[in-house]
Amino acid sequence: MSEPLVAPPPFERRSLLTWFLGTGVGAFLASVLYPITRYVIPPKLEESSAVTVTVDIQPASLKPNSGRIFKFGSKPGIVVRTPAGELKAFSAVCTHLACTVQYREDLQHIWCACHNGHFDPVTGRNIGGPPPRPLDAYTANARGDKIVVSRSATT
Ligand code: FES
Repeated sequence: MSEPLVAPPPFERRSLLTWFLGTGVGAFLASVLYPITRYVIPPKLEESSAVTVTVDIQPASLKPNSGRIFKFGSKPGIVVRTPAGELKAFSAVCTHLACTVQYREDLQHIWCACHNGHFDPVTGRNIGGPPPRPLDAYTANARGDKIVVSRSATT
């Protein structure tokens, strides 16, 4: 005995059209919503993992009342020789709106050009302008012909 043949379901153009429309709308929504979602909820950036960096600046070349920018991980840092001759290092990211600060020899302190922010070169303390808090302080030590800067803060 053979089983009765079952005819395959008739091809329905309407269901195919519905499927195409459904996937098209889905793809369109995904292409619009994904970038918006990534913009609104950006991926977490890794905080710089650098704890200690060796700065290729000869300590003797850094004269009193001067400073230089260096790269501390992905962010800028500033190493300063104070007018009294102390070696100091700070984050060079301004605590106001994150511009990069610089050392002003004429002012004898660290200065932010964006909104005229001023920082003490010994402590990093905000002493003028809009910055709301001190620069993050690092430890700086002369080791041979290099300067070693580490994240452990001193104030
Ligand atoms: S960003 Fe430095 S003072 Fe505004």
